[in-house]
Amino acid sequence: MAGNTTLTIIKPDAFGNAKTGKIIALLEERGFRILASRVMHMSKDQAGEFYAVHKGRPFYPELVEFMTSGPCMPMVLEKDDAVAALRGAIGATDPAEAAPGTVRKLYAESKGRNAIHASDSDENAVRESRFFFAETEILAAR
Ligand code: CMP
Repeated sequence: MAGNTTLTIIKPDAFGNAKTGKIIALLEERGFRILASRVMHMSKDQAGEFYAVHKGRPFYPELVEFMTSGPCMPMVLEKDDAVAALRGAIGATDPAEAAPGTVRKLYAESKGRNAIHASDSDENAVRESRFFFAETEILAAR
C-alpha cells in the first residue's frame, strides 16, 4: 500500500528567486499538508550524505555545491499516495521536459537548478524524512 507522507526540499535557487511562498502555496492548493518544515543551510557533509546514492555520477559534485550554496527548506508532506502525488506536482527533473503547471515548469531554471526535490519511493520518503526531522517533530502535526 502506498504511504501518505513524503519529503520535499525547496532548493537554494527557489530561495534566491524568492519563489518559496509560491511553491508552498501550489503544494497546499494540490492538497498537501505540511507536517514538518525548517529553513536551513546544508553543510557539504550533509548534502553529500543526503545525495550519496548519486556519488560517482558526473553531476554529483555540482549537485553538492549547489545544494550548499544557500538556504533550503526540507518539508514532510502528507497526502494520499504522497510520493506519486508529489512527483506529479513537481514535474520532470529537467524543467524543459516538465508538464505545464508543475513546480519545475513554473519555477526551475535548469536540470541542476531545479527548484525542488521529492522522494522517489516510500522507503526513501521515510529515510529522507528522518534525515532532517525527528519522528516526534513529524508526529506532532498529525
Ligand atoms: P533531485 O530530485 O533533487 O535528485 C537528484 C538531483 O540531481 C536532481 O534533482 C537534479 O537537480 C540533479 N541533477 C543534476 N544533473 C542531473 C542529471 N544530469 N541527471 C539527473 N539529475 C541531475
